[in-house]
Amino acid sequence: MKTESFRGRDFLTLLDYTTEEVETILDVALDFKRRFALGEPHDHLLRAKTLFMIFYNQSLRTRNSFEAGMTQLGGHAHFLDPSKIYTPALPGREVAYSTERVSDVARVLARMGDAIAIRCYGDPVDWEYGGAHEVIKNFAYWADIPVINMECDKYHPCQALADILTIYEKFGTFEGVKFVMSWAYSPSVHKPRAVPQSAIIGASMMGMDVVLAHPEGMELDEEVLQACEGYAEKYGGSFEISNSMDAAFDGAHVVYPKSWTATPTFKPPVGEDDPQKAQEIFEANKDWICDADKMALADPEAIYMHCLPCDRGFEVTDEVVDGPQSVVFDEAENRLHVQKAMMALTMR
Ligand code: CP
Repeated sequence: MKTESFRGRDFLTLLDYTTEEVETILDVALDFKRRFALGEPHDHLLRAKTLFMIFYNQSLRTRNSFEAGMTQLGGHAHFLDPSKIYTPALPGREVAYSTERVSDVARVLARMGDAIAIRCYGDPVDWEYGGAHEVIKNFAYWADIPVINMECDKYHPCQALADILTIYEKFGTFEGVKFVMSWAYSPSVHKPRAVPQSAIIGASMMGMDVVLAHPEGMELDEEVLQACEGYAEKYGGSFEISNSMDAAFDGAHVVYPKSWTATPTFKPPVGEDDPQKAQEIFEANKDWICDADKMALADPEAIYMHCLPCDRGFEVTDEVVDGPQSVVFDEAENRLHVQKAMMALTMR
């Protein structure tokens, strides 16, 4: 794929960016991280610019990293809480607020600010898989300013950028790094696929040896899996799927155990709209927890990653998440630096 200018581009999924472009974002992020550590001001880059942030789902890291990032770049992040999006009378993907369509809201905000960032998944679109991504694409269609995906039901590209930056900092390379994205048990079945899907996209486009591990019934989007296979072929890494957490962890350099919902949760044609069946699949796989025994299977220098919030005692033990192999707070901090880089490149 040809490398384009960053200016004015949407940031909806890493699939829209080349590996070379992602490397540029990481490079700028490292520069911002250095300046932040030194206390060097860089508030001229987006001075007086406004980012509108529409949150259909709550957030700690995403909201605060975007707000802090815009402040540090000299602009302002404006928080919008539209509440519910789905109305049975209108397809959810056309509605931005209960009384306003996406086409109207997007064009109004585009007259007043410099980018629109949106988080939307799950209940706001009634678990119609892909519906939330369509909402964000609809905003991007109508707004002539960049639209940023702050997590939808398919992708969380900002999290994936932070994840690969963290891996690069820890290993200094992506080559030969075995990256394991594993499902893990949670008492809550309602977690989107966005993080695992973006994590395996990011890892495979950087040429890592990627293993996706999950019990049967937790399969990810076929389009994403095919994209990962394509990246593995192109960039010299590998991509495998395993139904064993133990086998996947064997010799791993990076482990990323996290829950995501089972396929029956979704509305047809992707799922069966059967939360009870999803719950049964979860309950049958309570042993998918990242504990000290699982970490002992990995490389001695392995790192433990999680996007947070994690379900302590279910997805992971306190011993692991608070232990010396955990890099979760570096990963959370890197959300700030990568998002600043992406915004500074696209919102100029
Ligand atoms: N990792 C992440 O996106 O965190 P929040 O849900 O707190 O934004």
